[in-house]
Amino acid sequence: MAEIMANVEVAPNIFRIKAAGSFAGRMGQFYMVRAWDKYPLLSRPLSIFDRDEAGIEFLYQVAGEGTKLISDLRPGDELQLEGPFGNGFPEVQASGRVALVGGGIGIAPLFYALRHYSSSDVYLGFSQEAYLAERFKAATTGMVLVNVGGIVLEQVDFHAYDTIIVCGPEPMLKAVQRKQLETGSSANVYVSLENRMACGIGACLVCSVKCKDKRRKACTDGPVFLAEEVVFG
Ligand code: FES
Repeated sequence: MAEIMANVEVAPNIFRIKAAGSFAGRMGQFYMVRAWDKYPLLSRPLSIFDRDEAGIEFLYQVAGEGTKLISDLRPGDELQLEGPFGNGFPEVQASGRVALVGGGIGIAPLFYALRHYSSSDVYLGFSQEAYLAERFKAATTGMVLVNVGGIVLEQVDFHAYDTIIVCGPEPMLKAVQRKQLETGSSANVYVSLENRMACGIGACLVCSVKCKDKRRKACTDGPVFLAEEVVFG
């Protein structure tokens, strides 16, 4: 159990919650989060948005009963957290050029990545990001491009980077795979999948991902995969 320090709506339906305590976790990993005992049954997988000595932060969108219950919590209430889970983003050479690309609430794990890739260029495809864009701008020496109402992926030059990390809905990730193929880019392109999850520890198969060689689990083998590995439906 962790005590909630803040739970603030930073844009319509988008909340930032901070829980007090000392938490482990690297960029791209997630926690299974719940604020109920039995129903709704499943915990929600939330990527680490930020972390410091005081606690851990998550950014989430209210999209169902579970996230609605979490959004109703107030400072002093308690949150159940299990984790960190998942493989997280890859480590890359300090000299490499990195682009972080997020669509929708997929921007959530990218902020914590900036703690590591502090000179990355960031591309945000998100329609309600005033508060968030400012936070991203303060965290990188690279460029932050906010593409409201457009397709953010079109703005990314796949030949300009050594590593490209993309988080967002599946159609966006499919488009990433296509663009890598079409451009013949030699960049290492990674996608972070937003699969539904139940256990977070590889036991239930709810998060199964079809890959070129075999089926994998988003919660333990991912959620981060090389874009070229994944077979999208
Ligand atoms: Fe249960 Fe991945 S969430 S196996």
